[in-house]
Amino acid sequence: MLPKKVEEALNHQIREEFYSSYLYLAMAAYFEDKSLNGFATWMKEQAREEVGHAMRIFNYVTDRRGRVILEAIPQPTTNFSSVQEVFEKALEHEQYITGKINELYALSVEEKDYPTQVMLQWFITEQVEEESTVEAILERVRLIGDHQPALILLDRELAARQSG
Ligand code: FEO
Repeated sequence: MLPKKVEEALNHQIREEFYSSYLYLAMAAYFEDKSLNGFATWMKEQAREEVGHAMRIFNYVTDRRGRVILEAIPQPTTNFSSVQEVFEKALEHEQYITGKINELYALSVEEKDYPTQVMLQWFITEQVEEESTVEAILERVRLIGDHQPALILLDRELAARQSG
């Protein structure tokens, strides 16, 4: 039986993951507007993965005979002033999500909910990957600065991101 407190926290996390998807779609829309199609492709794939994260928790809650209650998704920021700012915000967001996953894990320990601890281990590993990937792109964007040809090259490179 899924402890009530854990069930509620998992429902909040489903919203966080859908919000992440929404935020990355907003970032993709910004890139599309700037004709940076590679960056847009990368962000759309990121958004797709976030729906996968939300559904992983959704399915887990139902497998544990819990009740999924979908919460309202806030409007994401749509105003960005540069590519660098987008990736700074993306990194900030992933760090926030890591904090949420850690809080969830701490709660499942407190509630002696062992299956949830096992389920969350996938997310703990995933967050290391998420932060590191975004950080690596941000570092390159910072190095590129105002050098447009280098930015176009990175855009082409990011266009190659595979879904999976
Ligand atoms: Fe679902 Fe990017 O963390």
